[in-house]
Amino acid sequence: MDQRTPTLPDDLAAMVSEIEHAVANAADEAALDAVRVAAIGKKGTVSERMKTLGKMTPDERQVMGPALNGVKNRVTEAVALRRKALAAEALERQLTAETLDVTLDPPAAALTAGRIHPISQVMDEIIAIYTDLGFSIAEGPDIETDDLNFTKLNFPEGHPARDEHDTFFLPERADGTRRVLRTHTSPVQIRTMLSQKPPIRIVAPGRTYRCDSDQTHTPMFHQVEGLVIDTESHVGHLKWVLREFCKAFFEVDDASMRFRASFFPFTEPSYEVDIRCRRTPDGVVLGEGDDWLEILGSGMVHPNVLRNCGLDPDVYQGFAWGMGIDRIAMLKYGMPDLRAFFDGDVRWLRHYGFAPLDRPSLAGGLSR
Ligand code: DAH
Repeated sequence: MDQRTPTLPDDLAAMVSEIEHAVANAADEAALDAVRVAAIGKKGTVSERMKTLGKMTPDERQVMGPALNGVKNRVTEAVALRRKALAAEALERQLTAETLDVTLDPPAAALTAGRIHPISQVMDEIIAIYTDLGFSIAEGPDIETDDLNFTKLNFPEGHPARDEHDTFFLPERADGTRRVLRTHTSPVQIRTMLSQKPPIRIVAPGRTYRCDSDQTHTPMFHQVEGLVIDTESHVGHLKWVLREFCKAFFEVDDASMRFRASFFPFTEPSYEVDIRCRRTPDGVVLGEGDDWLEILGSGMVHPNVLRNCGLDPDVYQGFAWGMGIDRIAMLKYGMPDLRAFFDGDVRWLRHYGFAPLDRPSLAGGLSR
């Protein structure tokens, strides 16, 4: 006899065993619920028996009360156990049915139908190179405050350098501020310095906007920003990073570069950087020849910018650079017209696009 209900009369024992049998045989949730209702629901067999307690003598009730309660608990427990088992069985069935063999070849269509846009490919290549050098990726929004896009980058209000950016302004807000479509990825520098403690080593690829359109300019284009802040970096480090990047990106053994003094409000000193090249009737060969091609702007972060971000320029210093992604993509892959990037022409994409499963990596090769 069951230990929990040692005094169970024969008829109750039969009832329990019948219910337990039904519970064990319930094939799904619905069947189990029907068994539960038929036993311990309002009009269930157990409940009906409980209603007879009132008519019993006190002596009888003293025996049957606890016995019936024990039965009810037993049924409740059995139902709960069965419910758990049914859920486990259902999960097991689902897992078996949904087994995925990841070692199978991908469907042929996945290898031939889609194409990765050259800009996405080049961004992935850039990310592969810089992350290998120990940089993290940072991001910022396309719609930026005037403060982050200009003021904190040491473009004072009314400074002529602001006009050079051909900015798209959004309508003025109630508080008099205007948001802009970011004209460069440099505000991500500010966002990073405001939110992270040095040492900082980030690159920030993304979309940028200027009101400008011709064969070599589109109103939306792409840049990648780089920023290093610590207590001891100097121009030598800047040169090394950019050189390693160019060698890896253009897949050449030697990338001779030229640093020309320039001006950006947020760097001092500032440099424009050219890479050595040779122009041929078929395009540009990089890393050799007597010509130079400008590929980026850079410099040591201006003390005012550090101060604007709460960093003490007597303690911290660093360097930054910004490079046009579309431009270097055109150079590397010999694409003559920038506008084609944004035409959405499938034939162009089929020709210049990249296979979806060839992910660029330094070990596996950046481009094929
Ligand atoms: N933001 C500049 C532009 O769009 C490029 C640039 C120059 C970025 C120098 C930098 C830098 O971080 O140090 O023209």
